[in-house]
Amino acid sequence: MKNHYHIPSPEAYTEACHQATKSPHDFWDTIARENFEWMKPWDTVLEYDLSIPEVTWFKGAKLNITVNCIDRHLATRGSKTALLFEPNDPSKPCEPISYQALYTRVCKMANVLKGKGIQKGDRVCLYLPMIPELAIAVLACARIGAVHSVVFAGFSSTALATRINDCDCKMVITSDGSYRGAKTIDLKSIVDAALLDCKGVETVLIVQRIASEITLVAHRDYWMEPLLALASEVCAPEIMDAEDPLFILYTSGSTGKPKGMVHTTAGYMVYSAFSFQNVFQYQEQDVYWCTADIGWVTGHSYIVYGPLANGATSLMFEGVPTYPDAGRFWEVIAKHKVNQFYTAPTAIRALAKESLALVEKHDLSSLKVLGTVGEPINEEAWHWYDDHIGKNNAPIVDTWWQTETGGIMITSLPGITKAIPTYATKAMPGIRLALMDDTGQELTHPKAQGKLCISYPWPSMARSIYGNHKRYKETYFSAFKNFYFTGDGALRDADGNYRITGRVDDVIIVSGHNLGTAPIEDAINQHPLVAESAVVGFPHHIKGTALYGYVSLKNAAGKNEDELRLEINDIISLEIGPIAKLNKIQFTQGLPKTRSGKIMRRILRKIAQKEIDNLGDISTLLNPEVVQHIINNAL
Ligand code: WT7
Repeated sequence: MKNHYHIPSPEAYTEACHQATKSPHDFWDTIARENFEWMKPWDTVLEYDLSIPEVTWFKGAKLNITVNCIDRHLATRGSKTALLFEPNDPSKPCEPISYQALYTRVCKMANVLKGKGIQKGDRVCLYLPMIPELAIAVLACARIGAVHSVVFAGFSSTALATRINDCDCKMVITSDGSYRGAKTIDLKSIVDAALLDCKGVETVLIVQRIASEITLVAHRDYWMEPLLALASEVCAPEIMDAEDPLFILYTSGSTGKPKGMVHTTAGYMVYSAFSFQNVFQYQEQDVYWCTADIGWVTGHSYIVYGPLANGATSLMFEGVPTYPDAGRFWEVIAKHKVNQFYTAPTAIRALAKESLALVEKHDLSSLKVLGTVGEPINEEAWHWYDDHIGKNNAPIVDTWWQTETGGIMITSLPGITKAIPTYATKAMPGIRLALMDDTGQELTHPKAQGKLCISYPWPSMARSIYGNHKRYKETYFSAFKNFYFTGDGALRDADGNYRITGRVDDVIIVSGHNLGTAPIEDAINQHPLVAESAVVGFPHHIKGTALYGYVSLKNAAGKNEDELRLEINDIISLEIGPIAKLNKIQFTQGLPKTRSGKIMRRILRKIAQKEIDNLGDISTLLNPEVVQHIINNAL
């Protein structure tokens, strides 16, 4: 396969941006035609009406995404490793799965699903650990036109049941359990508990992973392996329409009910593949590693679909960054000579707290590109990543995007466009960004700060919220007419680089001044003893709202807390101004986080506001135990 959409130089980037703006239809038409296999070409590239909103890419085209991710590589890359599985336990063998082997395993599993009555359009819930069967199940669904809804296997049974019911899944694929560092987790009993409330699920398929004793419910539960052993190795790809749904993925919203974002087939395929190639500058022999879980959109687009559509080798890691020690990421990079490494700022900050010896004992010289995603990366973490992991020799791409956008929207291109610490920098070709003020006007000066919107459709945008198109319209297309509203704030410098300032709901007004939490946290984090921090507002009799900082320390042995408070406020004064000084600083052992690593400011805000009997559901947090500790020590 020849790859025609590679942007190899600054000139090519400028040219691509120019083409995509001048004639977006031609731009995407060429990319789609030259780089993918279609069963039938499209009638029109793009039709849209953002007032409904309705967006149709590649109308009338027929395809199957798995043909593009697997079948078409077999002739030239059949023996190339598609998925490289690194297990939780480093003493266990890793498992390379070639494109040929992936083809067979996907076809077999697809036939198992068919055998259990799954048809095109049916929803299948995947509740699996990071084992090859998760990627294979994703592709098996796509092979037969079933819509996968992957639920991160760290969610509770209640959260799982809500997601299964919301989109009426007929089947759940899970495992007997999972390994997570030194622990094992009994996934099957979580599924059993969830299914007490899910009447629509007819079949549960169970992959064996930890060989634990489980109970099978008759006529509902089946071990996967014996069914695979009997399944045929041939499964013709279902012929899918460009706009047939490919998957549903839940993301949290401002209300308690999660939003099932619906992604469709052709546009998502084109954009995830195009962005993967260019953001990571993948070359044929490279080993690429994204540490996300396939339970999040990052794993969908940049472990499975984007890399495989490019015939890449994508490493899949079952474990955690701290097992058997906090050098595991660096050990895996050295072991597999990883060339592109993509992770989250929260992981970088956590690992930067550890001894540098854990980094230095591994040879990281294979690294060519480093990536981050999920939240703004603070300056200190950025430099630590650059200095100690990339050795100032592997460009960092700070990639801004969302579950809703399906693919990376703002980033630098490594070695091609300039990276700037704490800036995601520039839009990908074809992505039209806009900043809006509070009156709904677009800010047209180059240098501006406002609410981040996108003013033109892009191929991988979510098309709806499952079962609730009205909420889709209200959430994303109502704040600003004819714009997609991201929910984030951003500033743009005079050169057109974007810096994400955080969710707009995290803005705090202190004495009438608009303060973002992110820059204050950046300042706090510059203190050498600070590991992480979060700033929220609380009512104050003079300022209206004052600032409450939660600060987790690296190692504060022997330090006087009041002295530390003064030092932190001095840094804030220097960086932002006395107005941004914190009224209260509470030192904590950690900060409550979502499973994707985002700090749960909502909870911290409530504690700061002394509303502790109304914290909401904290069961889906990564670390619910820190909440009580913070309450006990609240100021
Ligand atoms: C929100 C989307 C995209 C996959 C993971 C998260 C924040 C994401 C960045 C970044 C600053 C970022 C935004 C966005 N975010 N990437 N590089 N810099 N903020 O997906 O759970 O849908 O979250 O994550 O606030 O809106 P998600």
